[in-house]
Amino acid sequence: MTLPVAGVIGWPIGHSKSPVIHRFWLAQLGLDGEYGRFPVAPEDLGAAIRGLRALGLRGVNVTVPHKIAVMEFLDRIGPRGRAVGAVNTVVVEDGALVGRNTDVAGFLEPLRGVFSGGGDGPAIGHAVVLGAGGAARAVLVGLKTLGVGRVTVLNRTVAKGARLLDELGLAGDARPLDAVPDADLVVNATSLGMRGMPPLPVAFDGLRPGACVYDIVYAPLETALLAAARAKGCRVIDGLRMLVGQAAPAFAAFYGVAPPRDDDDALRRLLLAGA
Ligand code: ATR
Repeated sequence: MTLPVAGVIGWPIGHSKSPVIHRFWLAQLGLDGEYGRFPVAPEDLGAAIRGLRALGLRGVNVTVPHKIAVMEFLDRIGPRGRAVGAVNTVVVEDGALVGRNTDVAGFLEPLRGVFSGGGDGPAIGHAVVLGAGGAARAVLVGLKTLGVGRVTVLNRTVAKGARLLDELGLAGDARPLDAVPDADLVVNATSLGMRGMPPLPVAFDGLRPGACVYDIVYAPLETALLAAARAKGCRVIDGLRMLVGQAAPAFAAFYGVAPPRDDDDALRRLLLAGA
């Protein structure tokens, strides 16, 4: 059998953590496979995607700025990719180029133990989502699958938040990015608070103990939002959980075997050591 090879494409791509994650799982499984980092300029995207088949690659993860543009070069798009309007994974399946969005599954993974989607735990009555860009779209699609009651989107451009709720058929409203209202779940789906970015311009006083606060930012791991949430007695979920969670279904699709998840702590330490 030929060596299974996959990778990640983006522009630039030097910052991507995907190689660390996939190579960790390959090593854990003792699997003879490779995972590369491919810088692909926007004007080369079509040629690169068509080249996957010619090169015999299993597929690629897709990151900024290609998540939307890549879709026109694919044969099929999975349901979550269609719902989000973006894909972060391309898999070569029997010669067909198939786009998937595993960000939704990655976002949902750590929430499974906290809220249910009609199962055992409590449902999400009210969620607050900060942001209305691409990441927020994946978060909102995820919340919809959990059967969220109502969503408040806080966004600098309020109309964009309202449009998104409307488009996805979610009940709720959009407001400016200022005070966080009381909610069962609060998610930061902007890159604000990330190292090198401005802080979130929001007051956290509305957070109540017992609420769940989730930041998709993972550098730093403990963002100002998560520190404030922890001080209030909230349950917190950091951005590395989603990062690792979105990689898992992609790994399974590329290498044909589910990644071992019993050593996530070691993987997290590895990711933080290189941060
Ligand atoms: P991503 O794919 O990471 O979601 P994006 O689609 O460009 O990136 O969306 C960025 C999000 O962060 C948007 O919600 C954006 O607000 P606008 O819709 O008003 O543009 C928000 N954002 C980015 N920089 C911001 C800033 N300096 N202040 C407030 N919001 C900001």
